[in-house]
Amino acid sequence: MECDKVQRAGVRIMKTAEYNPRHPASASKDNHCYIKMLCAFIAAVFLTTLTVSLPLGQDSHGGADTPLRFSEDGTFQISIFEDLHFGENAWEQWGPQQDVKSTGVMNAVLDAESPQLVVLNGDLITGENTFLENSTTYIDQIVAPLVERDLPWASTYGNHDSDFNISRRNILGRERLYRNARTSQMVFGEDAGVSNYYLPVFSSDGGWEPCLLLWFFDSRGGFKYQQTDESAQKIGQPNWVDHSVVDWFQKTRDSLNAHFNRTIPSLAFVHIPTNASRALQLDVGVDPYTEPGIDEDTPLAGQAQGWCADGTSDSDCEYGAQDLPFMKALTSTAGLLAVFSAHDHGWCFKWNNTLPGMDFTGNGLNLCFGQHSGYGGYGSWSRGSRQVLLTEASLAESEIDTWIRLESGDVISSVTLNATYGLDRYPPTADTHE
Ligand SMILES: *[C@@H]1O[C@H](CO)[C@@H](O)[C@H](O)[C@H]1NC(C)=O
Ligand SMILES: *[C@@H]1O[C@H](CO)[C@@H](O)[C@H](O)[C@H]1NC(C)=O
Ligand SMILES: *[C@@H]1O[C@H](CO)[C@@H](O)[C@H](O)[C@H]1NC(C)=O
Ligand SMILES: *[C@@H]1O[C@H](CO)[C@@H](O)[C@H](O)[C@H]1NC(C)=O
Ligand SMILES: *[C@@H]1O[C@H](CO)[C@@H](O)[C@H](O)[C@H]1NC(C)=O
Ligand SMILES: *[C@@H]1O[C@H](CO)[C@@H](O)[C@H](O)[C@H]1NC(C)=O
Repeated sequence: MECDKVQRAGVRIMKTAEYNPRHPASASKDNHCYIKMLCAFIAAVFLTTLTVSLPLGQDSHGGADTPLRFSEDGTFQISIFEDLHFGENAWEQWGPQQDVKSTGVMNAVLDAESPQLVVLNGDLITGENTFLENSTTYIDQIVAPLVERDLPWASTYGNHDSDFNISRRNILGRERLYRNARTSQMVFGEDAGVSNYYLPVFSSDGGWEPCLLLWFFDSRGGFKYQQTDESAQKIGQPNWVDHSVVDWFQKTRDSLNAHFNRTIPSLAFVHIPTNASRALQLDVGVDPYTEPGIDEDTPLAGQAQGWCADGTSDSDCEYGAQDLPFMKALTSTAGLLAVFSAHDHGWCFKWNNTLPGMDFTGNGLNLCFGQHSGYGGYGSWSRGSRQVLLTEASLAESEIDTWIRLESGDVISSVTLNATYGLDRYPPTADTHE
């Protein structure tokens, strides 16, 4: 398998980085070896690029002792929960009851699926309804089904995760009280957002070269924590991936690829979709047979919506185009197979053309939404969770299987994101509601 080949190359590279493992990478799975090999990975990357902060081994949390890895049968599955919106109207029944029902969705999906990682793709909490003294404690409820199953998870934060009484930084702090939290922060500028980081996924055979990189981006939005302007109004935050993050992504991606001397396949997660998704929806058109999935968020809300080109927030400005550098970076990333967004919900679209207002061309990147998972927030579509299944073999072919598991147990919108996605015909997705 491709990953095996890669893994042998990795051992060589680690030796050149002056780490001389006592055991070959695949020989032993004891903890001692784990930690040593992890250190080797960290040291290797650290030597290459001092600007890269690391997802592993920084402290006692973050699951440093259990790196993400393809399972023994060579598969790696991700379950994406998005727009859970915990913490609606705490002062009445509608709210606390939604949270109980959202926990039910997570339990139903996780009983039916066997992921190695859960992604919480933003809007974990409805921040505007929270109280200062306990706003982040909703994290405890959200992660309970994951802690029970000892599943690692990784979050991106959404526009509702920042408000007067809640901050992304404090949500991260709450998450990191748990050993299984992999959410991290690798870009530290004041306006960069928080959930910008990557996670490596290693091969099934115990090797320590990443077979897959998972990139998480913070599309920000919402309001500043505990701040108001002269007229006592909450202060809005930009709703696109900050340009400092785009720079960090490109540098980090390039140094990882250079260090491992290959293009490492990757997936990306970001709460708010880019204008490309909007343009595909409005200008190209979603075909229910070739891009199955609900398509009722029309027009969908993309990054930089409601901002002017000069960076001022103004609802008269439809779109400020500040997501152009991010889109450019995504389409120029070899090996990036798909970007999973939330905020809106439904289909996957292969972006293979030039869209209005852009001087660059989609490179076949798949842009996917998931299913609304929470009972908070708007919309009454059947709740569910997008599943992403990779195998070491399919990764070599740049193929991903993905489907949506509904709370009811039904599977919808099951597709293969391969070279002919967009041409292959599938049964359309029924438009079901709660
Ligand atoms: C947070 O505090 C509010 C107000 O006291 C309360 O109604 C709500 O249930 C609390 N939420 C949690 C998760 O403890
Ligand atoms: C923030 O929390 C405080 C303290 O619980 C509460 O009194 C206030 O109403 C909340 N403010 C907003 C804007 O939600
Ligand atoms: C990098 O990989 C190429 C083939 O893909 C190979 O020719 C070259 O020798 C490798 N460089 C190093 C430093 O291993
Ligand atoms: C953003 O999408 C809209 C809707 O399709 C389109 O009219 C506009 O030209 C796009 N802008 C850019 C810069 O891509
Ligand atoms: C892509 O997957 C679909 C569905 O499984 C299949 O019909 C099609 O032949 C595949 N295309 C390629 C190029 O493998
Ligand atoms: C892009 O995909 C569409 C189907 O979604 C297909 O009709 C078209 O030929 C493709 N274009 C290119 C340049 O591959």
